Amino acid sequence: MKILVTGGAGFVGSHLCASLLESGHQVICLDNFLTGSKANIAPLQNNSHFELTEHDIRDPLPAGHYDFIYHLASPASPADYSAMPIETLLINSIGVRNVLDLAVAAKAGLFIASTSEVYGDPLVTPQTEEYWGNVNPVGIRSCYDEGKRFGEALTVAYQRRYGMRVVLGRIFNTFGPRMRADDGRAVPNFINQALAGQPLTVYGDGSQTRSFCYVDDMINAFKLVLHKVAEDGAADSSWRDLPLLRIVNLGNPAEMPVLELAEKIKAMCKSDSEIIFQPLPQDDPLQRRPQLDKAKDWLGYEPKVGLEEGLAKVIDWFKASGRLSR
Ligand SMILES: NC(=O)c1ccc[n+]([C@@H]2O[C@H](COP(=O)([O-])OP(=O)(O)OC[C@H]3O[C@@H](n4cnc5c(N)ncnc54)[C@H](O)[C@@H]3O)[C@@H](O)[C@H]2O)c1
Repeated sequence: MKILVTGGAGFVGSHLCASLLESGHQVICLDNFLTGSKANIAPLQNNSHFELTEHDIRDPLPAGHYDFIYHLASPASPADYSAMPIETLLINSIGVRNVLDLAVAAKAGLFIASTSEVYGDPLVTPQTEEYWGNVNPVGIRSCYDEGKRFGEALTVAYQRRYGMRVVLGRIFNTFGPRMRADDGRAVPNFINQALAGQPLTVYGDGSQTRSFCYVDDMINAFKLVLHKVAEDGAADSSWRDLPLLRIVNLGNPAEMPVLELAEKIKAMCKSDSEIIFQPLPQDDPLQRRPQLDKAKDWLGYEPKVGLEEGLAKVIDWFKASGRLSR
């Protein structure tokens, strides 16, 4: 298949591009390197099935024939979106509109990368797709949370009008090699602090929970979506009459307090660093755990990589890649 990956030079996108190439697809990576890097896709550049288009999704996208589009382009880490709140909102509104227009014109299947942040600081746990969320519309995280919620609303509106074959994936915390050392997310933060002998900074008392999914499992879920959409599309030629929109949580349900994660990483890095506590940022969610029944029943998705196994790979990668923040 000919597949466009927006945000393909980012952390998740670069793993997706590599995996799609391995499966024999033709991959066009579209990115403006706002938060991604050329280093992430350097190993793919010599593959004759790989193409890079440097482009900002806020500008109308070049027309093209694609069988499928994965839309991932957006700042994703709190450090990035807090530094670029207006850009983040425009990327998740105008940018999503441009991707939707392209998908309609190309009659392509589409995956939109949404986020567990649409649930905000959730009042129900685990979070099911039916839960509407608890989001502060004017907090410091709202550029991302509300941007993604707008992107979902726009996608649903397009789907209702055009009967698109589209899946909204609500991605929960994902970690793996190629996360930036300075992107502010818990796993790379703690690993880099532990390896550098610096204090591990835990926000609040560390009792807030997260569920961490290793990137290989997430990529597997993305590819299961591709198969499903191709299957459903082939089974029904009238997309307008049979809405195929799916909204699905993707992640790993193993939930853990952030303090426990810091202790685990410190031990795995054999670090003498102390753990220090800093004030909890505004609207930081206190719990995160995906209900994955839909992903399991509909896609046959089940995460396979355990936390320690995944962390060991990321620790080794940071040591070997020299991408530490020292
Ligand atoms: N990693 C996670 O834990 C996680 C969790 C929930 C949702 N997501 C979503 O998954 C997607 C990928 O996340 P990631 O962790 O790989 O982030 P990332 O920042 O590493 O990757 C995002 C990519 O999008 C590109 N990009 C940003 N704005 C762009 C623009 N205007 N035009 C073209 N390219 C642009 C960046 O340069 C980067 O390569 C995002 O949409 C994010 O919201 C990720």
